[in-house]
Amino acid sequence: SLQPNAGSQGEYAGLLAIRAWQQARGQGQRDVCLIPSSAHGTNPASAQMVGMKVVVTKCDDNGNVDLADLKVKCEQHADKLACIMITYPSTHGVFETHVKEVCQLVHQHGGRVYLDGANMNAMVGVAAPGEFGGDVSHLNLHKTFCIPHGGGGPGVGPVCVVEDLVPYLPGHQTAGDARKIGAVSAAPLGNAAVLPISWMYVRMMGGAGLTHATEAAILSANYISKRLKDHYPTLYASANGHVAHECILDLRGLKDTSGVMAEDVAKRLADYGFHAPTLSFPVANTLMVEPTESETLEEIDRFVDAMIAIREEIRRVERSEWPQDDNPLKNAPHTADSLLTADWPHPYPREVGGALAGRLPGSVKYWPPVGRVDNVYGDRNLFCSCVPVEAFADEAVDAAA
Ligand SMILES: Cc1ncc(COP(=O)(O)O)c(C=O)c1O
Repeated sequence: SLQPNAGSQGEYAGLLAIRAWQQARGQGQRDVCLIPSSAHGTNPASAQMVGMKVVVTKCDDNGNVDLADLKVKCEQHADKLACIMITYPSTHGVFETHVKEVCQLVHQHGGRVYLDGANMNAMVGVAAPGEFGGDVSHLNLHKTFCIPHGGGGPGVGPVCVVEDLVPYLPGHQTAGDARKIGAVSAAPLGNAAVLPISWMYVRMMGGAGLTHATEAAILSANYISKRLKDHYPTLYASANGHVAHECILDLRGLKDTSGVMAEDVAKRLADYGFHAPTLSFPVANTLMVEPTESETLEEIDRFVDAMIAIREEIRRVERSEWPQDDNPLKNAPHTADSLLTADWPHPYPREVGGALAGRLPGSVKYWPPVGRVDNVYGDRNLFCSCVPVEAFADEAVDAAA
C-alpha cells in the first residue's frame, strides 16, 4: 500500500494489518508487541496507537537483540504475543547476524514479525527482508528512494506485507475499496504526486546502480568509522569490526576529561560549516553519522577533517590550555557579530573561534546566523502561544461595529 505518508504511518498501517489478521482468526487477545531497546522511537509509539502493549527486550553489549531475553519474553507472553518490531540493520548501526533466529522465535510463539525497513538504504540490491522471516515492512522513500526531505516533508512510507496479510492493508472509500482496517491517510495513494521521483530514481539507477548506491552508503559509514577511530571510537560494530550504513561515535568519555558534551561538538560543527549529524540518539551523548551514498569522498573527508580538528581542540582543553567553560566548543557556534568585537574576552584567538584555518582552498566560510541557544529551555518552560480568548471577544465587537 502506497497510502502511508511517513515511515511511522507505514508502521501504524502494518500493525493494524497484523491486529486485524489475528482478530479474524479469533486471536484478538494477542496484543503484546515486543520491541528491542535499540528501536526507533516511532516503533513503540505506533504500537501504542493500535492499542498494543509494548514489552521492551534487551540488547547485548554489541547492540544486538539479546536472544536469551527475547526467548524469555516470548515464552512469558506466548498467549498474548502479537508481534515483534525489529529494525534491520538496527538503529545501533549493525547487521544482526541472528536476525533469522529472531524471526523464527517469534513465529514459533504465534507472533508476526514487523521488520522496520527504514534502513533499507543498507539493503537494496544486497538483501531481501522477506527472506529473513519478516511479515510486514515499510520503506521510507524519503530516506532510500530519493524523495527530497528535511524541513518536514513530503514523506512516503509504503507498507509491504506477506500474502496472508494482503486483505488487511489500508483501503479507501473513494477508490471503492473499503478494506477492513479502513484508510490511514486522506488520499487513496497518499502522497501520490511525489511518487514519480522514486520511480524515476529506480528506473535511472537500474539494478546495478541501486546495488552500487547501497555499497557506497555502507562503505562511506565504514570509512568514517575507521578514519575517526583514534579520535571518537564507534560504539557498536559487528564481530568483524564493521558497521552497516551508519556509525555511532561515542563521545561519552569526553565529559570527564574535558567537560565537552556531544552537543558542544554538534554546535562546533556549525562553525566548520556542517549541519551536525543525529545528536544523542539512540544513545545519549553520542553522534550518529549516516552519510548515505550521496556525499562525495571529498565532502566526507572534509567532514572527517573537521571532526579531527575539533578533537584537537578538545585535547587542548584536556591539557588545560583552555578552561573547560571558556573554549571554542563551549562558545560555539560563533556568529560574525560575536567575533567582530573590539574587546575579545576569550583565551583562544578569534580566527580559532571562527574556525577559519584549514578550509579547502576557495571554499566559502559559513557564518552561523545565531549563537548558542538553550535547547531544552522551551521544553522546561512551557507557555501558551494561543491568542487569548479576549482577542476573539474584541474581534466580535469590531465586526459588530
Ligand atoms: C528505523 C526507523 N524507523 C522508523 C522511522 C520513521 O520514519 P518517518 O520519520 O518517516 O515517520 C525512522 C525515521 O527516521 C527510522 O529511522
